[in-house]
Amino acid sequence: MLDATLGLGADSIVFAYAIGENGRVAGIESQTIIAKLVEDGMKRWRNGSDALESAMRRVEVITGHHLDVMSSMKDKSFDVVYFDPMFETTVDASAGIGGVRAFANAETLSAEAVQEALRVARRRVVLKEGSEGKLHERFGFTPYRKRERQAVYSFREIGGGE
Ligand SMILES: C[S@@+](CC[C@H](N)C(=O)[O-])C[C@H]1O[C@@H](n2cnc3c(N)ncnc32)[C@H](O)[C@@H]1O
Repeated sequence: MLDATLGLGADSIVFAYAIGENGRVAGIESQTIIAKLVEDGMKRWRNGSDALESAMRRVEVITGHHLDVMSSMKDKSFDVVYFDPMFETTVDASAGIGGVRAFANAETLSAEAVQEALRVARRRVVLKEGSEGKLHERFGFTPYRKRERQAVYSFREIGGGE
């Protein structure tokens, strides 16, 4: 799994937990201060749960703009590429990124980045955006789950990916 917008890494921890020890989870974060904070936390944070700590230790943090980083990757390097760019409208219930919002990269998702993700993914590209977001329409993603007033999840399947 490649998380192209790592942020504080909450989603990546869930990915690493779900995928297990035999899978690989890498997260790309463009903002050095966030990337370094999260890299340190993934290595050292203790919360009393062996399963959670083990998942955190397995998240690889890559510092850089996702377009640059993905451009250096081979075709079909990961099963799934995931995007969770900053929402255009702030969601109060989304406390996660709140503490570092001022440091986050607020640029919108580019067509070039989606293109690179479709090349780097073997199975699908998944997008999370604000519930009023239109990125999935712009980039031809199919919505599959909506959390009212919070987020909509959508995906694009890679043809012949198996
Ligand atoms: C909404 S947050 C992601 C939250 C994350 N899913 C989590 O569970 O914590 C978006 C993050 O992506 C980063 N970001 C935005 N554009 C990026 C890009 N082009 N390359 C890499 N990181 C990017 C932002 O700096 C921010 O930290």
